[in-house]
Amino acid sequence: MIGPVPVATPDEMESLGRRIATIVDPGDILLLNGSLGAGKTLLVSGIAQALGVDVQVTSPTFLVVRKYEGVLPLTHVDVYRLASTAEFTDLELVEAAADGVLAIEWGGAVRSALPPDLLAIDIKVEERDLRSVTFRGEGEWDVRRLAELTT
Ligand SMILES: Nc1ncnc2c1ncn2[C@@H]1O[C@H](COP(=O)(O)OP(=O)(O)OP(=O)(O)O)[C@@H](O)[C@H]1O
Ligand SMILES: [Mg+2]
Repeated sequence: MIGPVPVATPDEMESLGRRIATIVDPGDILLLNGSLGAGKTLLVSGIAQALGVDVQVTSPTFLVVRKYEGVLPLTHVDVYRLASTAEFTDLELVEAAADGVLAIEWGGAVRSALPPDLLAIDIKVEERDLRSVTFRGEGEWDVRRLAELTT
């Protein structure tokens, strides 16, 4: 586990996302958890910037999924409104995103439908604008890559 990493502003959250982009590989799954407005979408926006995605990332809440073209393709999913894990499985997003990075907001809800190896990122709202971010590699996800994030 790495963290909690303090993140004091929205800009810092995007900047953390840009650093995460430097350690991801094709096939990586990022599971984003944290309450409403914690900063999950902002973190994905930072990842997208560093992957060279040239449009602004917005919340995919109503569309469920968006795929962006960057240095690596970035698939951004928000499962908040999905009724069931089965519905998630039916979308076959893990397969569709395998050539790039898959970032799932509220991912904990569909954990059982995902492969064992992934990076879980938890964002906790501390006070006002302060967030703390914790990284946990699950399964065989190579946590050594995380060392570069905090240096
Ligand atoms: N330190 C911070 N890091 C991230 N966001 C912050 C921070 N401080 C304040 N904010 C604000 O919190 C909000 C985060 O919004 P964002 O859409 O990224 O959250 P979210 O976790 O994706 O929410 P949702 O659950 O609705 O998808 C923004 O309005 C942002 O300006
Ligand atoms: Mg969001």
